Amino acid sequence: MLSLAKSVISTIREDLHNAREHDPAARGDVENALVYSGLHAVWVHRICHSMWQQGWKGPARILAQLNRFFTGVEIHPGATIGRKFFIDHGMGIVIGETAEIGENVMLYHGVTLGGQVLTQTKRHPTLQDNVVIGAGAKVLGPVTIGEGSAIGANAVVTKDVPANSIAVGIPAKSRPRNPDECVKLVDPDAYVDPGSYII
Ligand SMILES: CC(C)(COP(=O)(O)OP(=O)(O)OC[C@H]1O[C@@H](n2cnc3c(N)ncnc32)[C@H](O)[C@@H]1OP(=O)(O)O)[C@@H](O)C(=O)NCCC(=O)NCCS
Repeated sequence: MLSLAKSVISTIREDLHNAREHDPAARGDVENALVYSGLHAVWVHRICHSMWQQGWKGPARILAQLNRFFTGVEIHPGATIGRKFFIDHGMGIVIGETAEIGENVMLYHGVTLGGQVLTQTKRHPTLQDNVVIGAGAKVLGPVTIGEGSAIGANAVVTKDVPANSIAVGIPAKSRPRNPDECVKLVDPDAYVDPGSYII
């Protein structure tokens, strides 16, 4: 029980740290824990997914529906989501049952990870580690978005995207990503010259 509590706390800490890394507008952890519906949606999904895996499928669906009602983010309890997953501006997101999401993936609002067929097979996308999906993008079918790739805002992706690529447009076209396009957000303090402070 104690180890479960420790792991929950460390996951929440990691998610809060991750929110600060991905959103320059993020401020203190307490404020972020209260105001980021993307974080709330992911936390509740983790409970739903564990219920789903234990066979409590009905209650998991009901909790997921409540999650959707309060956050505007619809994640099927069967979806597999890795660590450090962040949804910015969480609203209007749909993540289907057989979607698989790696580590350190980020979605903006309005993203759909949807299916194209009505059969109960693997019908939703797989996002490998370090993928970013821009606002309003639709990724449809059991396609794979390769590690380190970015999907542009409002793109519609129906084919695999290789690793370290950028895909934009409808239908989305991929091109290799330049290394300097992978720069992470830098702490704004890094830009401040300490010698310039006025005391
Ligand atoms: C796709 C994306 C990652 C491209 O980044 P980039 O490679 O640095 O792209 P650039 O800004 O240098 O643009 C390169 C070209 O692609 C075009 N382009 C950029 N994003 C595009 C998009 N989403 N759809 C269509 N074309 C796009 C640019 O207009 C430019 O065209 P040009 O060469 O004719 O001038 C980025 O534009 C994007 O869409 N990110 C999502 C961000 C987001 O959703 N933010 C929401 C915040 S609330």
